[in-house]
Amino acid sequence: TPPLNPIISPLAWMLGTWESDPAGSGEFPTIPPFCYQEEAIITHVGQPMLNFIFCASNPETGKPLHRECGFIRIKPGTNKVAFICAQNTGVVEVEEGEVEGEQLSLTSHSLCRTSFAKDPHVTQICRKFQLTPEGKLEQIVLMATGSQPLAPHLHVTYKKMEP
Ligand code: HEM
Repeated sequence: TPPLNPIISPLAWMLGTWESDPAGSGEFPTIPPFCYQEEAIITHVGQPMLNFIFCASNPETGKPLHRECGFIRIKPGTNKVAFICAQNTGVVEVEEGEVEGEQLSLTSHSLCRTSFAKDPHVTQICRKFQLTPEGKLEQIVLMATGSQPLAPHLHVTYKKMEP
């Protein structure tokens, strides 16, 4: 790979191939709690942005579940970050927030979906990524839907598999 573009060096701690360890946990007031496996691949090609793919699967059967991919941009010279994401459920979203040290907090600013996406519709997404003192990547996702206020949906910690 080409050298890291210095504009995104504040996000360099996110780079790598990560595997959930332990399994991720999911919840929401309307659904039974669940566990999931997830691979997160965060790369760059020398451009001033990160590229990401998150692939969740059933931890017992390996069956593919939720998938999302996109880009993480930074407003040059600031700590302002945009997270641009397409999900296999038919949702597309832009979240914005700030990176502070090895922590990134984001809230959705635009969210749209296919006309035939299933109910209930997600209306807000908030995420937090951070690097733990043990060098693991942690992701927390909260969401609101047409029927529920903002509540936790996902919590996962990933172990680094490749740099
Ligand atoms: C349910 C959104 C990521 C697994 C749901 C529901 C919504 C939703 C709107 C329906 C809740 C209800 O019925 O009240 C999202 C969004 C995600 C996301 C916006 C990403 C930001 C994930 C991931 C997994 C997952 C990574 C991992 C496997 C589930 C499961 C259910 C569920 C198992 C319950 C069964 C079902 O409705 O399919 N999610 N989800 N979700 N989500 Fe997610």
